[in-house]
Amino acid sequence: NDTNNRRICMSEMLEKARKYEDEQGKQIKAEDRPAFHVSPYVGWMNDPNGFSYYQGEYHLFYQYYPYDTHWNSMHWGHVVSKDLLHWKYLPAALAPDEDYDKIGCFSGSATELGDGRQLLIYTAVDQEKMEDGTVRDIQTQAVAVGDGKDYKKYEKNPVLTAKDLPEGASKVDFRDPKIWKEKDGYFYCVIGSRPADGSGQILLYRSADGFEWEFVSVLAENKKRYGKMWECPDFFELGGKHVLLTSPQDMLPEGLEFHNGNGTLCIIGEMDPETYTLKEETVQSVDYGIDYYAMQTLLAPDGRRIMIAWMQNWDTIAHRCSDSKWFAQMSLPRELSVKNGRLYQTPIRELDAMRKDRVEYNDIVIDNDVITLDKIEGRTIDMELVIRPKDKENAYKKFALRFAQNQRFHTELCFRPDESVLKIDRKFSGTERALVHQRRCLIHGDANELKLRVILDRFSVEIFINDGEQVMSAVLFTEQEAKGISFSAEGAAKIDVVKYDLV
Ligand code: FRU
Repeated sequence: NDTNNRRICMSEMLEKARKYEDEQGKQIKAEDRPAFHVSPYVGWMNDPNGFSYYQGEYHLFYQYYPYDTHWNSMHWGHVVSKDLLHWKYLPAALAPDEDYDKIGCFSGSATELGDGRQLLIYTAVDQEKMEDGTVRDIQTQAVAVGDGKDYKKYEKNPVLTAKDLPEGASKVDFRDPKIWKEKDGYFYCVIGSRPADGSGQILLYRSADGFEWEFVSVLAENKKRYGKMWECPDFFELGGKHVLLTSPQDMLPEGLEFHNGNGTLCIIGEMDPETYTLKEETVQSVDYGIDYYAMQTLLAPDGRRIMIAWMQNWDTIAHRCSDSKWFAQMSLPRELSVKNGRLYQTPIRELDAMRKDRVEYNDIVIDNDVITLDKIEGRTIDMELVIRPKDKENAYKKFALRFAQNQRFHTELCFRPDESVLKIDRKFSGTERALVHQRRCLIHGDANELKLRVILDRFSVEIFINDGEQVMSAVLFTEQEAKGISFSAEGAAKIDVVKYDLV
């Protein structure tokens, strides 16, 4: 009876969250949110979870605490979309309402079961008392099954516990299962884990039905090279290669890679089909901007591999303002491809349908000058730029683009062709208390022809460099009235500009 009572009162927790978000979320005006990036219904959001296609719609869940704009006891929020740009809020999907997940329903993923139901797999966090009286978190994996809106946690949860770990692996850091269905009929999942050396590793598990799981292999090992614990892994085939994405904690910079302490890592290689281990070939950051972490992908029905991420980072968090009722956004969903051992990202092509009011300029010369162009402004825009020297023989020294600009504020992108470095600087973006304002990215392509696609959505900028070979993302809290755009050059540069409004 005790258990029954507890169950009833625990499901009240989800009901409470649903009631709260329904009341509070409605009060947030649409224009006070990003126009086409996901923001939480109300309160706090971190990692994308359960990014998947299910029964005709894209589903996205997210790490969620509705009651405050700071991280706390994790729920799962839920949105759905037909085009990955216009999202509809659904009621919160999970609350930390069971004994085994009372500290939080941490990150995880989703897939469709053979019988058509939707399976969520997530990290359940509980606590255990140590001999010396202190408590520590224990992480296991749990599942819930539902119809795309309401989910029931499995009676036999958790489905993967400390006994399923390889020797020496920590039960404190065992999280973020990413599930997929393989051609051999099995479900597989990759999970982040901390081995005895204190860094990170990715474990691979397999299940015939999604409920009973077995250990397959240690797919990849950090061996203290790239940060410590590897969070939020994802693993898939793309362009004839295997791609492992993960978000390592505590990274150290190498050249211009890995400058955010919580970084993003992409390892491309080949998986040995006998040992289920990844043979690494190339390694890179996923995003070179300020705010990007915990990326997750889905396979769209048309075969595209699409990635989304938390457009924030634990090390660069700056709150918008104290009275904002929501905090954090997802990135734009991006189509992935692999070329020459590198991961390319382009904005999902669905964005093209939102483009309107095209404005185009060609061969505009900026010779030691600052210019603006008629009709080139705005905070919800998609803008393509090509920057070249005016004369091939005479490289310009510096080119700068300023946006989200008025008398007081601006964010700047600046390129120096002699160094091939593109820098973003949001020092003057109006962000309160932010400690990090700049990131630099070493451009791989031809410095004499830099191609940028700049996407602004009220509170963010994403810059796709040279057809998506590199990307820089950052959030901006600049007042919306600051919508000016200007171009400047030291030396003589020549630019082409195409701009569309998106709203
Ligand atoms: C990554 C992360 C995950 C964890 C979740 C908790 O940002 O730390 O590893 O599951 O956030 O909210």
